[in-house]
Amino acid sequence: MGKDVIVACDFSGKDEVMAFLDKFKGRKPYVKIGMELFYAEGPDIVREIKARGHKIFLDLKLHDIPNTVKKSMAVLSRLDVDMTNLHASGTKAMMEAAIEGLTRPDGTRPLLIAVTQLTSTSEERMKADLLINEPIDKVVMHYAKNAADSGLDGVVCSPLESEKVHSVCGKDFITVTPGVRFSDGDTGDQVRVMTPAQAKKIGSDYIVVGRPITAADDPVAAYERCINEFVG
Ligand code: C5P
Repeated sequence: MGKDVIVACDFSGKDEVMAFLDKFKGRKPYVKIGMELFYAEGPDIVREIKARGHKIFLDLKLHDIPNTVKKSMAVLSRLDVDMTNLHASGTKAMMEAAIEGLTRPDGTRPLLIAVTQLTSTSEERMKADLLINEPIDKVVMHYAKNAADSGLDGVVCSPLESEKVHSVCGKDFITVTPGVRFSDGDTGDQVRVMTPAQAKKIGSDYIVVGRPITAADDPVAAYERCINEFVG
């Protein structure tokens, strides 16, 4: 599995994201487009960034009835993204339908990654609001296993969970991990963080890095530092 650094381009509009990407000149980082940018600019923003030669992780976290997810995934697949995602809590039937929708007539498809429990959901809120009375670690691993059984390629998880996910779902099951910070940087609102080097050591396949790169004085240098620490 090729390790890579995915830059979370959490910008509110096209001008901002293009000005940011222009700084990279010949370099073409793997870009994550989230809901904010996608809903602001629509599918054209995906086509334009793709046309500049970037790989794209489209982070829209689908969750609906299987038929709707299947049809929506077919649309995303035609956008030629490299990776997209959904909520594992939509059930195995929804995940299997997603794979069907995503698969192109020639058999190829973007990577499909599941969100297990959002890291913003505490065990306490999961119990009180969702009536799930199991330890959160067990829930996360169970959802990861459901995703693997449904044919998905991996999960988004904390770097601290990467090792366990690999032991439960196999070493080829991809872990995509946000919550990455430099050893000498601000943690911001992320609580459980790891450096790129630590994430590499514990076996993350992709790290998702936003503000340590986007808000850096020199974003290109910060990106190169991530690549050097994580990919080597
Ligand atoms: O700026 P920062 O490095 O914290 O950005 C991390 C990115 O990863 C953001 O786009 C955030 O929405 C996303 N993310 C996360 N934690 C998750 C899932 C996604 O931080 N559990």
